[in-house]
Amino acid sequence: MPYVQADNTGGLEKKVTIQTLRRMRGQEKFVVVSLYDAPMAAMAQKCSVEVVLIGDSLGMTVLGYDSVIPVTMEQMIYHVEAVARGNDKSLIIGDLPFMTYATPEQAMINATRIMQAGAHMVKIEGGLWLTDTIRMLSDRGIPVCAHIGLTPQSMHKFGGFRVQGRDAERAATLLDDTRALNDAGADLLLVECVPAELGEQITQASAVPVIGIGAGAETDAQVLVINDILGLTPQPPKFSKNFLEQAGDIPGALKCYRDDVKTGRFPGPEHQFS
Ligand code: KIV
Repeated sequence: MPYVQADNTGGLEKKVTIQTLRRMRGQEKFVVVSLYDAPMAAMAQKCSVEVVLIGDSLGMTVLGYDSVIPVTMEQMIYHVEAVARGNDKSLIIGDLPFMTYATPEQAMINATRIMQAGAHMVKIEGGLWLTDTIRMLSDRGIPVCAHIGLTPQSMHKFGGFRVQGRDAERAATLLDDTRALNDAGADLLLVECVPAELGEQITQASAVPVIGIGAGAETDAQVLVINDILGLTPQPPKFSKNFLEQAGDIPGALKCYRDDVKTGRFPGPEHQFS
């Protein structure tokens, strides 16, 4: 029996909350999709996708930029509002874009705007330096998902989109970040593009659920970008999968992705890094 029940039309029966995700930990994997508009958000609800993320990836997938760096608060708010209008059951996470949370005070102001647009949680990228910000948001009632590993807003610092934590020093830093972000009050972690073994170690080191993308099969949840699921990305990343190809239509693709995460068929070894 699935942890989050589908209603008789196949959609989520009840609102998914952070409590739901905590209870699912170790029992059942949850499914996350990064998407940007009301019809897709409604489809995700109908296909029992527990969490929807309005990622700043929208800069590349929807707006035609070559990175996430140009994305603005106004663009994020516009898309969070659209998603929230289309889906009243999934947990909604909204990204804070580049340089909108460089100080705790700035994060407070901008996280408030994302929450007022309809998100239930904000996502911010970074490690140890974020702890004061997370404490400030969390103490004031704003749930936070902390994104570590490959953090696309820092792509110029990394010199491109590269797997993180292959060397012992960076792996140790990511594990230290995991503990520090937990202690600061993060409600979820998201880890992107690390070797599968490190993805598993981060999940074990975390007291809160860990969402993975290109982080192996042992995280508590998986996230994919809707454009990758639907085969719309010209050069899809190794960790993604075109589910439309096998399913034939959009609801089928979302259900296939969901089922494959739940049963452990996705990610397969071909989607993982070593
Ligand atoms: O912006 C986004 O969609 C994301 C996911 C790739 C995790 O951060």
